[in-house]
Amino acid sequence: MEYRGYDSAGIAIDGSNDIESPHSKVALLRKAGKVSVLSDFIKESADDLDMDMEYNIHCGIAHTRWATHGSPRDVNSHPHRSNNKNEFLVVHNGIITNYREIKEYLEKKGHKFESETDTEVIAKLTQHIHDRYPDFLFRQLVETVIQQLEGAFALAFKSSRFPGQLVASRRGSPLLVGIKSNSRLQTNHFPVSFSKDAGWKWGDEKQTDGRRFMSNHATHLRDESSFVETPNNILDLSIAVRSSNGSAKLEISDSTTAVRPFDSADWEVEYFVASDAAAIIEHTKQVLFLEDDDVAFVEDGALTIHRISRHADNGEQKREVQLLEMELQEIMKGSYKTYMQKEIFEQPDSVVNTMRGRLLPSRQVVLGGIKEYLPDIKRCRRLIMVACGTSFHSAIACRQILEELSELPVVVELASDFLDRETPIFRDDVCLFISQSGETADTLMALRYCKPRGALTIGVTNTVGSSICRESHCGIHINAGPEIGVASTKAYTSQILSLLMFALTLSDDRISMATRREEIIDALNDLPNLIREVLKLDDKVHEIAQQIYKEKSLLIMGRGFNFATCLEGALKIKELSYMHCEGIMSGELKHGPLAMVDEFLSICMVVCNDHVYKKSLNALQQVVARKGAPIIIADNSVPEGDLAGMKHILRVPKTVDCVQNILTVIPLQLLSYHIAELNGANVDRPRNLAKSVTVE
Ligand code: G6P
Repeated sequence: MEYRGYDSAGIAIDGSNDIESPHSKVALLRKAGKVSVLSDFIKESADDLDMDMEYNIHCGIAHTRWATHGSPRDVNSHPHRSNNKNEFLVVHNGIITNYREIKEYLEKKGHKFESETDTEVIAKLTQHIHDRYPDFLFRQLVETVIQQLEGAFALAFKSSRFPGQLVASRRGSPLLVGIKSNSRLQTNHFPVSFSKDAGWKWGDEKQTDGRRFMSNHATHLRDESSFVETPNNILDLSIAVRSSNGSAKLEISDSTTAVRPFDSADWEVEYFVASDAAAIIEHTKQVLFLEDDDVAFVEDGALTIHRISRHADNGEQKREVQLLEMELQEIMKGSYKTYMQKEIFEQPDSVVNTMRGRLLPSRQVVLGGIKEYLPDIKRCRRLIMVACGTSFHSAIACRQILEELSELPVVVELASDFLDRETPIFRDDVCLFISQSGETADTLMALRYCKPRGALTIGVTNTVGSSICRESHCGIHINAGPEIGVASTKAYTSQILSLLMFALTLSDDRISMATRREEIIDALNDLPNLIREVLKLDDKVHEIAQQIYKEKSLLIMGRGFNFATCLEGALKIKELSYMHCEGIMSGELKHGPLAMVDEFLSICMVVCNDHVYKKSLNALQQVVARKGAPIIIADNSVPEGDLAGMKHILRVPKTVDCVQNILTVIPLQLLSYHIAELNGANVDRPRNLAKSVTVE
């Protein structure tokens, strides 16, 4: 999980083999720094803690952190604990937005906080509720706690009071359960049967508590659960109680899901709770994706999933065990030094995977995930692409071809700004949400903003089963394979490719565009070979990197289809080597950036023989006239004479204009890689960043 956050890590496991003991110790170990630092610490501490180094234990939680509240220090690392007896421990991804109110309340009740994190309130609140209602079972406690939380979270709980048990839940942040078993599995859904008498009685004291916790929901008193038995006597069911305007109303969870073997004899099973499939693929491919407000409970080899009924309109919900298509070797580095290097060099294959089964020998383009919706998409009034970071750049890269082939207005939006502006959205808009992870909080929130406004939503993601996939009406999987390096490379080129194919499907009935479509399709068929050619530049790029890696700043300029390459190249260099780098639209050169140009400034210019070629040459001449000595990325149809006197020229094969940016970005991916390596930076895990940003 390290690529999701790597500034600190921690683990809490049963410290005693005697899981029958009601107060068995839980060992908690936390360290700032990489997982390897924690791993060494565990080895050093094993004796002191009387830990079983064979790990002959039943249950534990662990976490790698990307700091949001509180700097990366041991004490801010997860798991967070309720007290120094480690009675309740929790790991958390996401953000608790009402943590201040909860903290204030708990401090008044005498709880002492040791960290600066939002997460610690969860552990303390669990303890507080447990102290008040000592009869509550572990799952009930968690159900009660999460009803007081606002924000986004994926949580896993462990407790010395409940050895061998694990509870996990999510709202807004991804969480899945991997199931490794020696038996074929089935999921059973148990409908709720409810008898009014079996319920729990609303008490004054609880109401008061509820009100204090729920400062923003004064009329929403939600409190703890109760148990009734299913008709077949197998499972407990949760009941959430809500009061509106003083009169208590019982809301019943719609169903409970349990994972059971077909044949229960000799059933052995292990469960893995994780926010990412990559974390569990070496153990199992069987997964169950949790939905918001699901509470997963594991005890004695049985997994049950319960629902908190927060919304009156909860329909019947089903959870099924699914089989991941990912392969373990896809997330291994193999012979490459780093994941990023592997992912850059994988691009000839990843683009094939993106096109597989979609670019047909009949020269048709078929995107199965949006096929049904195609007539609606074609009828829309506006296309809006919403994304963050590299994914945003892929939208910039494809805006022009989408405008050309769809003849629709195409708007490109940064998800955060789109939400800040509360952008008007209409029923006849089609909104694309582009996200490698499918979990980026800003992009996901933008999707949740557009959906109730009636727009048709399309997810463009690399992660099957991700939140954006599941919540959008339809979608395109970019199929680039797992991307582990924090700086996105192969996902970017596959995103561009997916959007190009999307543009092609929108114009498949336009006779006037047939020739244009044909030339693009030809270019796509050639693409893997062309990428192989570009990758041969690696040594030359390395030499250039050796000359510039100590520079303070680099400007990357270009225009037209290649402007996105400049933005993306600059982002790669910034995030990997921490060098100041800007991507500049060369049309804007004379409106400001030219003032910076002299013989000392490092500049890179993308010059391709397309419809803006003359203008690109003008920009180059303006730079050269100010003694600038740019590194040039040019396609191989640009005449030698036009680039006379340039010290560094990186030639990429010539292809169709709208595909060219896939080829021009690769030298910059390589350049950023080499500059970072020469500077001794961690290429796969640049400081302060995370692969998937699940907080707004
Ligand atoms: C983070 C990553 C970037 C990525 C961006 C958007 O900032 O470090 O590499 O481009 O998130 O991520 P997404 O998964 O939505 O494409």
